[in-house]
Amino acid sequence: MKFSLILLAGLCTLAYSAVLQAHKVKVDQEYIQKQKQIWHLVDHINQPSHYHEHIEIAKSYHIEDHVDQYTKADVVKKFTQYWKYGMLPKGEIFSIMYQDHMEQAIALFQMFYYAKDYQTFYKTAVWARQHVNEGMFLYSLSVAVVHRPDTYGIILPPIYEVYPHYFYNTEVIHQAQVYKQQHYDQQHREKHGDYDYTIVANYSGHYLNLHPEQSMSYYLEDVGLNAFYYYYHLYYPFWMSGEEYGLKNDNRGELFYYMHQQILARYYLERLSNGLGETAFFNWDVPVETPYYPSLEYPNGLEFPSRPKFADLHEYFYNYGQSWTTRDQYGYSPSNVKDAERRINDVIDFGYAYTNEGKKVALFTKEGMNVLGNLIEGNQDSPYQEFYRPIWYYARHLLGYSYQALDKHHVAPSALEHFETSMRDPVFYQLYKKIVLKFQRYKLRLPAYTEHDLTFQGIKVVNVEFERLLTYFEKFYSDITNAVYYTSEELDSNKHPHFRVEQYRLNHKPFNYKVVVKSDKETKAVVKIFIGPKYDQYGRHINITENRLNMLQFDHFVYDLKTGENVITRNSQSSYFYGPDRTSYYDLYKQILGAGNGQTDYYVDGRQNYFYFPQRFMLPKGTQDGMTFQFYVIVYPYVPYHGQQEHHEQDHRFNYPKVGTGGLYIDGYALGYPLDRNIKYEKMWYHIPNSYFYETKIYHKHSDDDNIHHHLHHEH
Ligand SMILES: *[C@@H]1O[C@H](CO)[C@@H](O)[C@H](O)[C@H]1NC(C)=O
Ligand SMILES: *[C@@H]1O[C@H](CO)[C@@H](O)[C@H](O)[C@H]1NC(C)=O
Repeated sequence: MKFSLILLAGLCTLAYSAVLQAHKVKVDQEYIQKQKQIWHLVDHINQPSHYHEHIEIAKSYHIEDHVDQYTKADVVKKFTQYWKYGMLPKGEIFSIMYQDHMEQAIALFQMFYYAKDYQTFYKTAVWARQHVNEGMFLYSLSVAVVHRPDTYGIILPPIYEVYPHYFYNTEVIHQAQVYKQQHYDQQHREKHGDYDYTIVANYSGHYLNLHPEQSMSYYLEDVGLNAFYYYYHLYYPFWMSGEEYGLKNDNRGELFYYMHQQILARYYLERLSNGLGETAFFNWDVPVETPYYPSLEYPNGLEFPSRPKFADLHEYFYNYGQSWTTRDQYGYSPSNVKDAERRINDVIDFGYAYTNEGKKVALFTKEGMNVLGNLIEGNQDSPYQEFYRPIWYYARHLLGYSYQALDKHHVAPSALEHFETSMRDPVFYQLYKKIVLKFQRYKLRLPAYTEHDLTFQGIKVVNVEFERLLTYFEKFYSDITNAVYYTSEELDSNKHPHFRVEQYRLNHKPFNYKVVVKSDKETKAVVKIFIGPKYDQYGRHINITENRLNMLQFDHFVYDLKTGENVITRNSQSSYFYGPDRTSYYDLYKQILGAGNGQTDYYVDGRQNYFYFPQRFMLPKGTQDGMTFQFYVIVYPYVPYHGQQEHHEQDHRFNYPKVGTGGLYIDGYALGYPLDRNIKYEKMWYHIPNSYFYETKIYHKHSDDDNIHHHLHHEH
């Protein structure tokens, strides 16, 4: 079976509190100890650690004396070579999208991953915390924590609190630093719980209003949304071999497609709510209209590069006045993306890919979609990575309009070149639209679904009902203490000022919904619900064939149907795609300390882990007078996901799918089924008895707080 949450949610109707209870897992002292250690490791990441334990271990632990403590000796050799002959120094900017940085980060990750036991892993990590580049350390450590079996269930703190620089605009970071310097001046101090200062953060467009796309900055810059995308890439790094690290049971290639298709669908719903239309389509040969000014600054003070309006992507213009000879492969990004695009098109039309040994791999097979996904992502499982190439990788360098580095250790990556910040740039969506349409080029060659394919004999969805759907903005607080610097005395005494950010974020009122299904038998079924638009920004009806890819998966679960009428009740907390905000750094830290003293039993919410889409974004904003959306519900026969049966070692302890176990999959159908392909006749969509279209409005409540318009700036 799936992880128990789905089972539970599928079998009975649960009240909110019961659902939350189901996510709570009691943990032991060993877990608490590990959790505490991981949190200490990432605390004040931009400063050397002040913990005495760290200082001791970093001095006394010599990796080369412990080669036998690592499963693979050559991993140690490789790493020590990098260490001896030049790794990215501390204080420089790290990006996984630069080849040299990536190779070093992998070498470091392998040290963490192949450490034979937790103690060796921990000591290696402490050593690296003091010696290796901060960004690289954080990245490699985080990937190791989500992939090592003995750290399954350990919660990584919210990335926007570990690295506030990548999530909050320069004014916010600057403000925190000013207050830190003026700490003894009473003026701005105002105690709230543990916090001495509250900084009100605005989205970009508040100060400099430069482009209509900025009206969406509350969405593009949402810290939960960006964190979600970052976490997804920790679980499925493009450089990770599925064979070596046990990702084989998860169809990562297909997931790459589905993840981005869903991100695009969600974005379109939000655009419509703001009166904007389709995500633009761009062409490499035509200047890119959409500019981007990140308003972000690196911890070392360098600003994120920006892209001007009508940015020219031709090799000559893109590189004008910069070095683009043999120093840097990224100077050739315009050609690289075009090569990659042409090869992808060819391979789809041809129906076969080639491996590096020249073996043919058929694409129009059961596994074909996953192969194509690996090929387009250009990940380690691609049939021929060097030939097909990761198009997104070069495209991000190109569209980010970052500078060609003179030296591989001094790079200034654009927002697109970090997973933490890429969703802030509107061009991100334009790029992935191009990529998602490649997959559709493939899907359109598969047979369209017929009435026979989609009909579930004897099953009828007779009614669907949703409670009133209401969205609003609410204040959200996060800890940005890590954006400022402290002396070791301040850190040791923990008497230093604490900073928090207050920011408005979208949310919705909790709601219930109901699906009524008539069945002529007892059977195991799958219920899938999508939400999508009904009209475009001009109020024109969008025909379902064109609307297919705009439909966002809303809920998906296995259900045992009884004979007769089944009333299935769900609520906004039941869907397993959506997760709550992570607990703030300091709050969780205090809980752990309390639990570590043995004061109380300690429970962990499994949804603090993994890459859940933010719960608060389950509904698009809608409008004040109500905006029409539609839900599409389909009930189909249950077929298990093939990967799961092969893998018997699924771990359910923490109620979230352990990576590589196939636990992510609810059933064995294509991701996005049945909207992943065309259907034979347009009108047929409305004649499948086991499906249902339900139309409703989403309302947006304007806040009484006048200030909100300043903060969000969506009136411009
Ligand atoms: C955000 O906007 C408000 C209202 O204009 C202003 O008072 C506040 O200082 C701004 N925050 C920052 C960090 O600039
Ligand atoms: C719906 O859109 C598709 C794709 O553009 C088109 O082929 C089809 O004819 C349209 N259907 C109707 C009823 O207009």
